[in-house]
Amino acid sequence: MTRPIVEGFFDRTTSTLTYLVHAGAGTECVVIDPVLDFDLRSGRTGDSALRPVIEAIARQNLRLSFILETHVHADHVTGAQPLKTRVGGVHAIGRGVAAVGHHFGPLFDIEPGGFDRLLEDGECLSFGELSVEVIATPGHTPDSVSYRIGDALFVGDTIFMPDSGTARCDFPGGDARLLWRSIRRLLAHPPETRIFVCHDYQPGGRPLAFETSVGEERRANIHVRDEIGEDEFVSLRESRDKALPLPSLIIPSVQANLLAGRVPAFIKVPVDRL
Ligand SMILES: [Fe+2]
Repeated sequence: MTRPIVEGFFDRTTSTLTYLVHAGAGTECVVIDPVLDFDLRSGRTGDSALRPVIEAIARQNLRLSFILETHVHADHVTGAQPLKTRVGGVHAIGRGVAAVGHHFGPLFDIEPGGFDRLLEDGECLSFGELSVEVIATPGHTPDSVSYRIGDALFVGDTIFMPDSGTARCDFPGGDARLLWRSIRRLLAHPPETRIFVCHDYQPGGRPLAFETSVGEERRANIHVRDEIGEDEFVSLRESRDKALPLPSLIIPSVQANLLAGRVPAFIKVPVDRL
């Protein structure tokens, strides 16, 4: 199996990983889950998270084919639009985005849309000598997808590092049982398959980590290692979710991300609705 080069970029403010994937200098590349800075107090956006990614693309003379979202993020605004303006690329997300828009569109009084491409489960996207397999992995959100490129799985918000478990399932359209099934689908890949997570919250203050493997997750993930069954996982996940606060950037993030990252001139705050 091909082994693409994977570069991870960590946004400390939202604990999000952006990935740049390619086959070496001068080749085609994809960017997964770019981040736009958004300061809630001032309403100002910025490109401090995006700049290192753009610099890495330029330094290695890469050509950006696709900007891939793993889902409509609720904790950060996607940097897809400024990235596309400066570097190019086709902006794509899972077809399930319609279900997310169905719920949140009326709540924020917006007409969701504006993506260049909506992806189906099982679809393949080629870029240079590499290709992306789209794997629908709903559960955290209905639109969640994972991407396999060669021996590397980009799992979005499904599983995190083994010591961090799994993503929450309490957003509208979230479903712990569905997440379990999606995770089992991911963990059916060969044990040496590399896994790159979407967030790392550095539990206990441990150093940043974002790469693991199917074998390691099956052996040690605190929520979904092999000896934990579906019902046990579902009750653990649902009880944990009851205690989680909403992400601090959920209001601007969902609004902008349903518009493919085009930040509206004014952000609406639905009162007593979230
Ligand atoms: Fe998420």
